[in-house]
Amino acid sequence: MRKNMLSFGVFPAVFLPLFLSLSIAKSAEDVTFRDVTFETYKLYEGPINRTIRSGDKIADFLSKDDFHFVKIKGQNVPVLRRNSLADLRIVSEIVVEESNVEEIQAGFLGNSTDVKLLSLKGNRITSIEYGVFNNLELISIDLTSNKIASIDSRAFDDMPSLITLRLDDNLIADWNPNWFKNTPLLAVISMQRNRLEEIPADAFGNLKGDKRQEDIDFNVSLAFSYNRIKTIHPEAFSGLEKIHSLWFDHNRLDDFDGNLLTGIRVGNLRLNHNEIKCFKSDLDKVLTAENNYIDSNPFDCECLERIKAYSKTSGKKVHIVMAEMDCVSRRIQAKMAALENRLKELKLLNRSPEIAGKKEVEDVEVFDTKKISIK
Ligand SMILES: *[C@@H]1O[C@H](CO)[C@@H](O)[C@H](O)[C@H]1NC(C)=O
Ligand SMILES: *[C@@H]1O[C@H](CO)[C@@H](O)[C@H](O)[C@H]1NC(C)=O
Ligand SMILES: *[C@@H]1O[C@H](CO)[C@@H](O)[C@H](O)[C@H]1NC(C)=O
Repeated sequence: MRKNMLSFGVFPAVFLPLFLSLSIAKSAEDVTFRDVTFETYKLYEGPINRTIRSGDKIADFLSKDDFHFVKIKGQNVPVLRRNSLADLRIVSEIVVEESNVEEIQAGFLGNSTDVKLLSLKGNRITSIEYGVFNNLELISIDLTSNKIASIDSRAFDDMPSLITLRLDDNLIADWNPNWFKNTPLLAVISMQRNRLEEIPADAFGNLKGDKRQEDIDFNVSLAFSYNRIKTIHPEAFSGLEKIHSLWFDHNRLDDFDGNLLTGIRVGNLRLNHNEIKCFKSDLDKVLTAENNYIDSNPFDCECLERIKAYSKTSGKKVHIVMAEMDCVSRRIQAKMAALENRLKELKLLNRSPEIAGKKEVEDVEVFDTKKISIK
């Protein structure tokens, strides 16, 4: 009995504060919007701020004359609950930025089919689950600057209108070739500043086909700048026919396989700031884009000469200003070192004037570094 009393006396004392804090947190979580200010657009008046003391559905706090957009910035909305953004009429843009969003529940937009643009930048989302975005009629989703490390393989399937997906500044380490089934218009994917190391075979198989909406042709653009990519599978882009921009700058590539772009028309290829000393394949297979940005790689200087020659004959633009400067300065350094050695030699020789030929002194080229310009 005593033992029981003791245990009953002690345990609640230990757990009560914990229990209380849990239930306070829980009750705070009971509504989606508590003391949240958002901006919307009022007919004839323009942008206007409204504040929700406590509520679950933004639509309940809009007047009949509010439309266009709903922007929540710098507020506290940890969970975007089911239907929290439902029933919005003629609201085409929703922004919930820098507002501690951690979780998005399936059905958060309910039947708000007019919403086309969604930005969830600067939140704390860690994963994208199946069911959250599927079948929505969004054209653009911006998930930049979250903490996304995992994306369900079906997370972006069946999105008939999606054209642009931004996932920059997240923690994504793997590209899944199964993403984007039945998302036929998707053309712009930006996954810069993540942790990708590899692009696998058939990575973009679900992006193939013409992307046409009304009279506009959307060409695929893929941005993978600032990752840790070392390997691109030779079949990575198979199935694609046109790529507007392909960005792999600031990665760890030491080559770019000549088969990668076979049969693909590319507008802009960025391979600058990688670890490329030279391309192993023929240049006319690698540098096929209209514009090839390959600067700031540790190029071998002879390789760079070949690249320059190729650029002249092929008419493809190749941007290599810094790499060329590197080579020129390496050449200058080499010349300077040679010159210095020569002068030392001459000094030595001067000690025995009978050997020092006059001719040799004139042969020493002196560079005026100020006059060296790069064409
Ligand atoms: C609404 O509030 C935000 C944040 O305080 C402010 O930046 C914005 O200018 C306000 N908008 C209007 C229309 O008052
Ligand atoms: C969404 O559905 C509710 C009822 O389910 C309806 O009252 C409302 O008008 C609908 N909103 C839109 C934008 O279709
Ligand atoms: C897509 O590519 C085609 C062919 O290269 C071009 O005619 C068209 O203008 C491009 N579309 C856009 C939106 O850049």
